[in-house]
Amino acid sequence: MNEAIDENKLVEIIERYRENPHATVAILQDIQDEYNYLPKPALIKVSKEFNVPLTRLLSVATFYNAFSLTPRGKYQVNVCLGTACHVRGGERIMNKVEKELGIPRGETTEDLNFSLDAVRCLGCCGLAPVMMVGDDVQGKLKESKVPSILENYKQ
Ligand code: FES
Repeated sequence: MNEAIDENKLVEIIERYRENPHATVAILQDIQDEYNYLPKPALIKVSKEFNVPLTRLLSVATFYNAFSLTPRGKYQVNVCLGTACHVRGGERIMNKVEKELGIPRGETTEDLNFSLDAVRCLGCCGLAPVMMVGDDVQGKLKESKVPSILENYKQ
């Protein structure tokens, strides 16, 4: 996979933390926000610039679920399969989303627009079945609503 990245954005992030080199998690968070994952060239540069072993950065990256070492989509789609959503057809919603995006849960679309995962309760069971697309909660879902919802986030 080509891991060429926009170095200017990375340099900006590094400069932001120049005076605060121990803020490893915050640095990685900003890189994740910028690229939607932690590109290896970025981790190598952070390791050199802040004199932090690469192995330490990788262990932080794998410890926190918020970080990904593989490219993620611009929009994270989380379909709830918790109990309340399950009994109200969450699995059917998931199947429909998988079909619409053309990927199974756990994967990312080739255009890097969507990553899809199953989650166990989004904390709004009264709206079951529920999914989140990016920061947006989509509740009281029906399979028939899924295509038009996803269409709003397509590039
Ligand atoms: S079980 Fe789906 S939001 Fe709680």
